[in-house]
Amino acid sequence: MYAQMVKTDTTSVKTREEMSAEERAFQDRVDADIKIEAKDWMPENYRKTLIRQISQHAHSEIVGQLPEANWLTRAPTLERKAILLAKIQDEAGHGLYLYCAAETLGVSRDELTEQLLTGKAKYSSIFNYPTLTWADVGTIGWLVDGAAIMNQVPLQRCSFGPYSRAMIRVCKEESFHQRQGYDALMKMCLKGTAAQKAMCQDAFNRWWWPSLMMFGPPDKESVHSAQSMAWKIKLNSNDELRQKFVDQTVPQAEYLGLEIPDPNLSWNEERGHYDFGEIDWSELFSVVRGDGPCNRERLAARRKAWDDGAWFREGLMAHAEKKSARKDTQKNAA
Ligand SMILES: [Fe+2]
Ligand SMILES: [Fe+2]
Repeated sequence: MYAQMVKTDTTSVKTREEMSAEERAFQDRVDADIKIEAKDWMPENYRKTLIRQISQHAHSEIVGQLPEANWLTRAPTLERKAILLAKIQDEAGHGLYLYCAAETLGVSRDELTEQLLTGKAKYSSIFNYPTLTWADVGTIGWLVDGAAIMNQVPLQRCSFGPYSRAMIRVCKEESFHQRQGYDALMKMCLKGTAAQKAMCQDAFNRWWWPSLMMFGPPDKESVHSAQSMAWKIKLNSNDELRQKFVDQTVPQAEYLGLEIPDPNLSWNEERGHYDFGEIDWSELFSVVRGDGPCNRERLAARRKAWDDGAWFREGLMAHAEKKSARKDTQKNAA
């Protein structure tokens, strides 16, 4: 899943005349779709923006495990439990993969963890909402992982090699996540009882708007993305991806027989897209500020995991030190 509130660089895009020779050569490589690798020269702001973007993404994968983990012990069948467990393990893998990609830019895992635990770094706000019923788990897979795919597929073509390559594998797994969510909902909406259908509609009502917010603020308020676009670390605008998501999701909801909780939603023949109602951005900003329903709970869970793991980290360090001391003795003896 993907952090939507990536703040992009605030400096305006330099003209070729304003660029140094190094910057020009860098931009030429980006324009020619040649990947930038970790050891290549890069503008300091490119590095900083990427560290922020990749680490927010990694934090989102890690925190994103928490809402679904809530249902692991109560999954309705053994099969659903095994699927959910596999999905959650995938998300942990995505987080670790992305932390590694961020580390290639010269930041340590400890620094990134500290930024998350102190609240300095953000993660996707969607994970600050609670999972009240089993239908929430299906809805998250369908909508939240679906929105993540929408965001991440273009990033497979982003200019930074380690990030773009990570996205290829991540996207394959995300598509399994979306399928399993939709499959769980199909079962309940198409073959389930009236109570199960009502439960799915209720979950859909609660997740629809936060899912649309996952694409970030409207383009007219997100004026700082020009540099990230020029550097190809952002490839589509927020509104463009949001529209694509709505267009893709509405027919899927119709197939399930679910009603979109938006009285203003209608097909616009002229545009060839769905029109939809105004998003309540004040809600998003309050969740980003830390006042969502589960912000405190999520951070508390991550802090507890960090503290509980202290003995294990110490054990690993002691083992590594012992091993290197043994190597030194062997070297001296030889
Ligand atoms: Fe993921
Ligand atoms: Fe996922």
